[in-house]
Formats: sequence, C-alpha cells, structure tokens
Amino acid sequence: MYRISRRHASPDLRTRMRQKLAEYRLFWREFRHTFQSTGAVLPSGRRLSRALASRVGTAAAPQRILEVGPGTGAVTAEVIARLGPADQLDLVELNPRFAASLRRRLATDAAWEAVAPRVRVLEMPVEELATDVAYDRIVSGLPLNNFSCEFVACIFEQFHRLAAPEAELSFFEYVAVRPAKALCSQADERRRLVGIQRLLQHQFAAWQVARQCILANVPPAWVHHLCLPGVTRCN
Ligand SMILES: C[S@@+](CC[C@H](N)C(=O)[O-])C[C@H]1O[C@@H](n2cnc3c(N)ncnc32)[C@H](O)[C@@H]1O
Repeated sequence: MYRISRRHASPDLRTRMRQKLAEYRLFWREFRHTFQSTGAVLPSGRRLSRALASRVGTAAAPQRILEVGPGTGAVTAEVIARLGPADQLDLVELNPRFAASLRRRLATDAAWEAVAPRVRVLEMPVEELATDVAYDRIVSGLPLNNFSCEFVACIFEQFHRLAAPEAELSFFEYVAVRPAKALCSQADERRRLVGIQRLLQHQFAAWQVARQCILANVPPAWVHHLCLPGVTRCN
C-alpha cells in the first residue's frame, strides 16, 4: 500500500488534498449548523458519486442536466467529467455557503472552468425552481430521510414536473438507515419514516429501471435509477 506524505506529494496533489480538506471542513460545519438540509457528515465518496453520475453522457443528443443538492460538489465533479460537448448543467443548491463554494470551484478548478459557460448555479430550493425547463437527467443528493412525508411527496411531484419525457432520475439512500431508525423511534417518527418508505416504494414500482448497492461508501448506499414519463411541454 502506498502512503503519500504531504512533503512528498506533487504540487498538484497538494492542491487537491488542500481542496478536499476544505470541502470536508465546510461539509462538517454545515452538518452541525444545518443538519436538517445537509443530512450527512461527509460528502459522498467517489464510488457513490460515480454511480449517481453514471447516466450522464450516455445519450447522443445534447442533454439538459439538473443536479439537486450538489453540496461541495463531490457528485458534480463526476457529472462534469461525463458532460457531452453540448450538454447544459444546472446546479440547484439551497445553502448559500455551498453555492458560493461551487461558484468558486467553477472559477478555479481547470476541469470545471472548461465547462463553466454551460453550468448555472441556482441558489434556491428545488421546490421553487421554475418548471419551464425540461431536464433529461436529474441527479439528486437530497437527504430524504430528514424531510416530512408531505415534503418528500412534494419533491417527487417537482421531479416529475421538471422531467422531460423519458428523463432519468438518479438518487441515493443509505442502506438500512430508515428501517433501523423506524425500529427504535417513537410512534410519530415511525409513521413519518414508514410514510417515506411507502412513497418511495410507489415510485420504484412505477418507474425504477435499475438500482446499485455501493458498499464502498460511509455509510453504504443504494443508488436508484428511475425513468420518468416526464411532461410534454408546448412551445
Ligand atoms: C446529503 S447532502 C449531499 C451533497 C452532495 N450531493 C454529496 O453527495 O456530497 C444534501 C444537499 O442537499 C441540499 N439541499 C437540501 N434541501 C434542498 C432543497 N430543498 N433544494 C436544494 N438543495 C437542497 C443541501 O444543502 C446539501 O447540499
């Protein structure tokens, strides 16, 4: 096994390590201050990020891509690596500190700078995003288990409104966290978690096309890929 000490790392690697540390620090701070919307201690790991981005760059025609809840950009980096030459990417992020960090990265990271003219950072909650643009791919990092059942329903209605016909939605949930939490919760909390479970089951039964189990993540996660019927828009 190789171990690279900071002293022996190349300047490039040092810059990347510094950037990663800064992202982890920001994520941890936001987890403590805005737990409800941040929902995780750490950004998604590389395997999980790759699985979430795996449906990007698979079409011949230019695609409109929406990433919901990009945070510090762990998944975004993988989305950007797969963008087709005429694809457009919208990043919808509620948290202003995360949005600022994404804008900074678009101006300073070479891979991000190269696609920056085709990327928009929309600092707002996704439920308020105007539905005049139809997206071919939607990648979501939202922490669904932290939301009320009604709000999860509202988020999925919005995903359906934002979807172009046959759009693909990819999102994740941590393995076994919801049932384990439900087991040791009071009645109200159990009702909320069971409600979210039912709602997701309904979505899976109707639209799921694939799912992947990512064990190499902390904690392990399911990635769900749904093909949504989408809304046909008249111009
Ligand atoms: C679990 S973190 C995921 C971050 C990143 N995608 C990753 O995997 O590392 C959830 C993200 O969703 C954002 N978020 C939560 N509610 C949101 C909403 N209603 N609209 C847009 N973003 C939201 C949070 O600010 C946070 O960046």
